[in-house]
Amino acid sequence: MLEQKLRSVVRDIPDFPTPGVVFKDITPILKDAGLCMAIVDDLVERLKGIDIDVIAGVESRGFLFGLMLATRLGIPFVPIRKQGRLPYKTIAESYKLEYGQATIEMHEDAIDPGARVLVHDDLLATGGTVVASAKLIEKLGGVVVGFSFIISLDFLKGEGRLTRFSDNIISLVRY
Ligand code: PRP
Ligand code: MG
Repeated sequence: MLEQKLRSVVRDIPDFPTPGVVFKDITPILKDAGLCMAIVDDLVERLKGIDIDVIAGVESRGFLFGLMLATRLGIPFVPIRKQGRLPYKTIAESYKLEYGQATIEMHEDAIDPGARVLVHDDLLATGGTVVASAKLIEKLGGVVVGFSFIISLDFLKGEGRLTRFSDNIISLVRY
């Protein structure tokens, strides 16, 4: 079963990037092509019934399965990037980190007004990253129709911050 396989493959790294944090390392997943395909298959199955025009993936680990998923669905992928990386005209949104602040950006022509957008990232922790992503999408006139993650850290309660955008919140493994 996919969930069990993911639990066995995702690697816990204690005290990374800072003491006290247990980092979920997804790089072992990427070495297994069959597992990557199974992840995309499962996401596609779970997203059935949601009308999606565009997948927006969050730098950097949201790019990995975000583009695969968009390609499989035959729809556009757009990147949400950290500040200063996108070359064309951008809009920006800042959000709080545990210490300090982060800013993410999208190209101002990334999505058409009214487009139905799925936000994809590898992992949901506090939700700050994808809340800022959803705000960017709404600023551009897009409609957030769901969120997909490989991993959710349920003990951080990020999901509760997403329901004001959409109740479609998909995660393949929860801790
Ligand atoms: C991690 C993870 C998510 C985000 C989740 O990314 O890949 O994008 O944090 O945290 P949150 O729900 O508390 O906002 P990170 O910022 O470490 O960057 P990376 O993907 O480029 O490694
Ligand atoms: Mg990330």
